[in-house]
Amino acid sequence: MEITFGDIQETALIPLAIKASETSRPNARIKDEKAKQIIEALEVDVSKFDPFMSHEGVVARTIMFQEELKKLLKEYPDALCINLGCGFDDKFSQVDNGRLTWFDVDLPDQIAVRRKVYEDRERCTMMDGSALDGEWTTQLPKSDMNIIVMEGVLEYFSKDQVKTCLNMLCDSFDHGYLLAELHSPFLEKNSKHHDAVKNTNATFGWGTKSGKEYLELEPRLKFVSETSYNEEMKKYSIPGKLMAIFGKNINNRLAVFNW
Ligand SMILES: C[S@@+](CC[C@H](N)C(=O)[O-])C[C@H]1O[C@@H](n2cnc3c(N)ncnc32)[C@H](O)[C@@H]1O
Repeated sequence: MEITFGDIQETALIPLAIKASETSRPNARIKDEKAKQIIEALEVDVSKFDPFMSHEGVVARTIMFQEELKKLLKEYPDALCINLGCGFDDKFSQVDNGRLTWFDVDLPDQIAVRRKVYEDRERCTMMDGSALDGEWTTQLPKSDMNIIVMEGVLEYFSKDQVKTCLNMLCDSFDHGYLLAELHSPFLEKNSKHHDAVKNTNATFGWGTKSGKEYLELEPRLKFVSETSYNEEMKKYSIPGKLMAIFGKNINNRLAVFNW
């Protein structure tokens, strides 16, 4: 199938490739049959998108985002959940509790490709939208609690774009949680050395030492928690353990905010 991707959109092939290859392994730590089916259906060559450290990072973040989401959904089972910059991710089926309402949102050309491999499901709808413009949020049903997931998206934004996104979320939703992947200033300067991203035309944007740096950009936001992917990665491999010691402040983090 002939598909062209924008520079950041192409990065969606990285987690897709990794989730599919992990699923095929004996003792897979995550199971994502949909990722395997998508690669077969799109007939894309994703071999360059699955190097070791990125593989471990994506497995770790998938586990960590799922656990954090499930924890929040125990408290807010009827929440409106938005996977903003969803790429090919199938988190809905992994956390669905039978009650939540879910929207998979991404840029129009990414959603167009996603529609080739997904259909809307009951309580799970795809929608064109940008993290930098809240127009699409006016089409959403109102909810007392909104949970926004941004996995591998804010990493590509400049500081001004991160601010635009945070302001847009707080303007659009009265109450919400944001589960966001953050990266370090070290990675910001080293896109060309990242084992998977160097194989795309994308470059990393504004990196932070702490998620608390986001609070200066949006005063309505409150910092809830932040956990390095090292906490999960160190369970599985020697490089993961070494990274937790020597790359303590370099690895990506899952940060949780609310407002
Ligand atoms: C690395 S992929 C992550 C995909 C998915 N979250 C995952 O973890 O599998 C980055 C995604 O961000 C999307 N993206 C980039 N800029 C965006 C924007 N302004 N608004 C919404 N999504 C955007 C891309 O289209 C792409 O799907």
